Amino acid sequence: MENLTGRVAVVTGAASGIGRGMTEAFIAEGMKVVLADVEQGALDATTKELSSQGAEVVGVECDVSKPESVDALAKAALDAFGAVHVLCNNAGVAGGGTGPSWERPLDDWDWVFGVNLMGVVHGIKSFVPILLEQDDEGHIVNTASIAGLINGGGTYGVSKHAVVALSESLFGELAQLGPKIGVSVLCPGWVNTRIIESERNRPEAPREISDDQAPQAEAMRKIVTDLIQNGLDPRDVGNTVAEAIRVRRFYILTHDWQAMVEHRMQNILQGRDPVGTMPPGMAEGVSALLSSS
Ligand SMILES: NC(=O)c1ccc[n+]([C@@H]2O[C@H](COP(=O)([O-])OP(=O)(O)OC[C@H]3O[C@@H](n4cnc5c(N)ncnc54)[C@H](O)[C@@H]3O)[C@@H](O)[C@H]2O)c1
Repeated sequence: MENLTGRVAVVTGAASGIGRGMTEAFIAEGMKVVLADVEQGALDATTKELSSQGAEVVGVECDVSKPESVDALAKAALDAFGAVHVLCNNAGVAGGGTGPSWERPLDDWDWVFGVNLMGVVHGIKSFVPILLEQDDEGHIVNTASIAGLINGGGTYGVSKHAVVALSESLFGELAQLGPKIGVSVLCPGWVNTRIIESERNRPEAPREISDDQAPQAEAMRKIVTDLIQNGLDPRDVGNTVAEAIRVRRFYILTHDWQAMVEHRMQNILQGRDPVGTMPPGMAEGVSALLSSS
């Protein structure tokens, strides 16, 4: 979609971080934007602020983990602007706590997968039929993570691998059945957002971390908080996404971390164990943590 001006975008998780960065980038391109988010206060404040600057925006409260809520979002977008050209399935959460897979409560898996994976599935189910029906240019951007391209990564990393696979699958389907609709998967490294505070939007009470895990969880949280606070400006990510839509780029990487992806591929191809890839800064922090414990 070479010309974004006048087009309509729907962005989930638009009240904060990368979603807001994409929203601002789209507005700068002359697009109309439907901001969707589960956090009503932040959504209202963001929509009001952007609107007072002259942007054509509407805010719609939406919980992407609920199919009926995403259906209602699609209807609200059409009611507001009459069409949808760009859909960013971006809302996501990072599950709190540490610990191995077998100790993680099923609630953690349900919440993280409900938002990160099923949120994207619901976006595709509610919006792709509309885009196909319009028979116009369109584009879908699913936010995964660099964690979806490297080893493991707990509930979060596993959900992001699924978003990458789902996006690859969608790309192939639309290439055959709706070639006017492009697809991208956004795989950012560290970006300066509120992702570390994801528990703020968890429907049920945050889970208790056992006393023996608490110091390690707190130390890990500090490492990741520092890396995120020193991460990219979300608006820069938004600009990168706008450019990727324009040139129909599928994989959107925001950092020069290709070596980690290549390392994993070589592990697979050469039958090696899945070890040795962690984002810059993380490996140092984790080994310092292990040596102090
Ligand atoms: N920040 C990073 O370093 C980073 C790196 C890679 C990928 N990501 C991904 O980027 C996306 C955006 O996260 P962010 O970093 O901007 O974090 P953020 O917390 O600043 O923003 C996420 C937004 O999603 C909303 N949200 C949460 N649950 C929701 C739900 N059920 N329905 C609708 N909205 C919901 C939140 O209210 C918030 O406004 C996520 O998918 C995240 O996994 C972030």
